[in-house]
Amino acid sequence: MNKKDIEVVELFAGVGGFRLGLEKTSNSFKTIWANQWEPSTQAQHAADVYQEHWNDGTLVNEDISLVWENVPKHDLLVGGFPCQDYSVAQTKAKGIQGKKGVLWWEIYKIVKKNKPSMILLENVDRLLKSPVNQRGRDFAIMLSSLNELGYIVEWRTINAADYGFPQKRKRVFIFARKSNSKKTPTKKFIEKESIFRNEFPVETFYDSKQIDLNKYEDLIDITQKYKEGKFAESGVSIKGKVFHTKYKASLSKQTPFKDILDKNQKNYKFLTDKQREIAAYQKSSKRIERQSKETGFKYLYSEGKMSYPEVMELPGRTMLTSEGTINRSSHFIKSGKGIRFMTPIEAERMNGFDDNWTSSKHDRFRYFAMGNALVVGIISKIGKEIIKNVK
Ligand SMILES: C[S@@+](CC[C@H](N)C(=O)[O-])C[C@H]1O[C@@H](n2cnc3c(N)ncnc32)[C@H](O)[C@@H]1O
Repeated sequence: MNKKDIEVVELFAGVGGFRLGLEKTSNSFKTIWANQWEPSTQAQHAADVYQEHWNDGTLVNEDISLVWENVPKHDLLVGGFPCQDYSVAQTKAKGIQGKKGVLWWEIYKIVKKNKPSMILLENVDRLLKSPVNQRGRDFAIMLSSLNELGYIVEWRTINAADYGFPQKRKRVFIFARKSNSKKTPTKKFIEKESIFRNEFPVETFYDSKQIDLNKYEDLIDITQKYKEGKFAESGVSIKGKVFHTKYKASLSKQTPFKDILDKNQKNYKFLTDKQREIAAYQKSSKRIERQSKETGFKYLYSEGKMSYPEVMELPGRTMLTSEGTINRSSHFIKSGKGIRFMTPIEAERMNGFDDNWTSSKHDRFRYFAMGNALVVGIISKIGKEIIKNVK
């Protein structure tokens, strides 16, 4: 191993979006250990795909909660993990304990044990406002616990389409670095020191706020009493002091859907007349009376009209794991006289994976994997800044 290598551990690896993004930036990134385990199926398709691309023994295909102690020392920990309930309770031994099965606590234990100098995580932007009945509490727990372990934590919600990628995919990226700094974070930090400052240019920051998490005694106190509300799209937290702000991206030239079309007509699957009818209905605006199963309460559910077929002059909408089914969120494309599903290759292109990255698997999984994955180019951009930082 070269001395200037950055040793990476990849958690919740899926089909390898983080690794691919980092490797596309620099060969200084060396993934030394990775983990992927799909709890809901016996088949381990994502792990298979990962191993097809990196058959070097780095991937451990087991539940992270069973193998976290085997994670070796590393420089950079990366992973996209589920948004769950992060609340903590007191144990009988007066320690603190997060709920079983909440994967954030596996990340926390790995960080505590291995103390990597950097951490890069990805999540849905809902993380900044969860849970519904105590907005922002879960993210406050996350910030506070990483600050306690000696990390400066910054985050930014990024819509990939704003920075030239062919998908409107909004995700929060969290970057933490080990530091003894006791600075009070300000807008200046976000403008001059943030890992996001060069690759994700901003037109303006506005509506900034501060929060002092030190007024809470510990994570249990945050769990019970946190009431500062949700976190804005961009921010930094140093030793419990948080500065956060909304921002308007300085837009790059957009990449429209038409630029990533799969030209191979053999891959096209057309909708039948019946399917076209259902898809058109699902995309239409509607007001439906529904009844709550729990309370019996009747209410009007309404949803707006969506373009059908897809507008080719704009970036695609967010891809979900249900892509490829007849569904309101799937992409349907006009092609000749017919309307077709988006092809698996188009799904891969939307995220910036190489064509046929998942082609050893059936289509249903290929769409599912891309709905779970991330925009690889965003990781490459952050990777570029990590390399500069380390130098
Ligand atoms: C949001 S996806 C991450 C996708 C990944 N970033 C990619 O580029 O493909 C989360 C992944 O965590 C995996 N996972 C869920 N529970 C897990 C567990 N207990 N241990 C290990 N992996 C788990 C899922 O199978 C899924 O592939």
